[in-house]
Amino acid sequence: MSETEQKCDVVILGIFVADLAFSARRLPLVGETISGSDFAMGPGGKGANQAVASARGGAKTAFISRLGKDDFGELALATWAREGVVTRVSQSQNDPTGAAFIFVNDQTGDNAIIVVPGAAAKITAQTVEDNTRIIQQAKVFVTQLEQPVEAALRGLQIARASNTITVFNPAPAEDFPDEIYSLCDYITPNETEAAALAGMEVSNIDDARSAGDALLDRGVGTALITLGEAGALFHNRHTSELIPAISVARVIDTTGAGDAFNGNFAAALARGMDATKAVHFANAAAGISVTRSGTAPAMPTLEETRNRLSST
Ligand code: RIB
Repeated sequence: MSETEQKCDVVILGIFVADLAFSARRLPLVGETISGSDFAMGPGGKGANQAVASARGGAKTAFISRLGKDDFGELALATWAREGVVTRVSQSQNDPTGAAFIFVNDQTGDNAIIVVPGAAAKITAQTVEDNTRIIQQAKVFVTQLEQPVEAALRGLQIARASNTITVFNPAPAEDFPDEIYSLCDYITPNETEAAALAGMEVSNIDDARSAGDALLDRGVGTALITLGEAGALFHNRHTSELIPAISVARVIDTTGAGDAFNGNFAAALARGMDATKAVHFANAAAGISVTRSGTAPAMPTLEETRNRLSST
């Protein structure tokens, strides 16, 4: 794919999938069928959700990915056209667009996910190199681990070499080369991912600080560990601050919260916001997202997040 001239504040590498969300009281056991209370199909995939979050959060945002030429692929393109996301996306004739099975607990809003990346499983380091210029010109580059790790590594290398701020969301908790740590201005695991990376239990703020220290020792600039309703720990060699989550009357669906956080953190950094203030902003956006169903559709606008912040 040739690169046309277009400058974006935030560039995100990741996957799009169609989210097939089933709400029920509990997950069925193997061999069991249970009745659910709701079903929805909509746009998803961590990177794609983060791109929608960043665009709604006020940043001109580009998304690098790979789709199939099918109905789910059309859903992706229609979503990005509506949201104003600049697409750096190829479409395969042979591989299908991916999909995710999402179980949402209809009592608590908690979720469990199986994701199949489909065509995006063939994103390569070359795919990223084809988009070198837009990454170099961006203020912030974000990636995760749903597409092959070689692509994430290449994106982070290109961004670092051009002083583009790097945000690495190590989700899902897959193995990655140690080289990645020193390429991260910010690494943003949740508590489960932080525990897996650091090889220790993370069940309170002191544990999170210890896990953060382990990540700093491996070379990250700042460990930003999301801790659900406790907020997010911003932890580096100079500052270690627990930034509280905003309180929410009723949680409907937590599936897109991490993506709301990452996309809005990137958008706020790209606006030049101080990093800890950007975490407050991202927490507010994530707090709004959990009061709505779905992932990309649950992302708040810049105005909604600002209003929420000013009312706390
Ligand atoms: O982070 C939530 C996302 O993870 C869902 O949209 C699902 O597609 C999975 O990739």
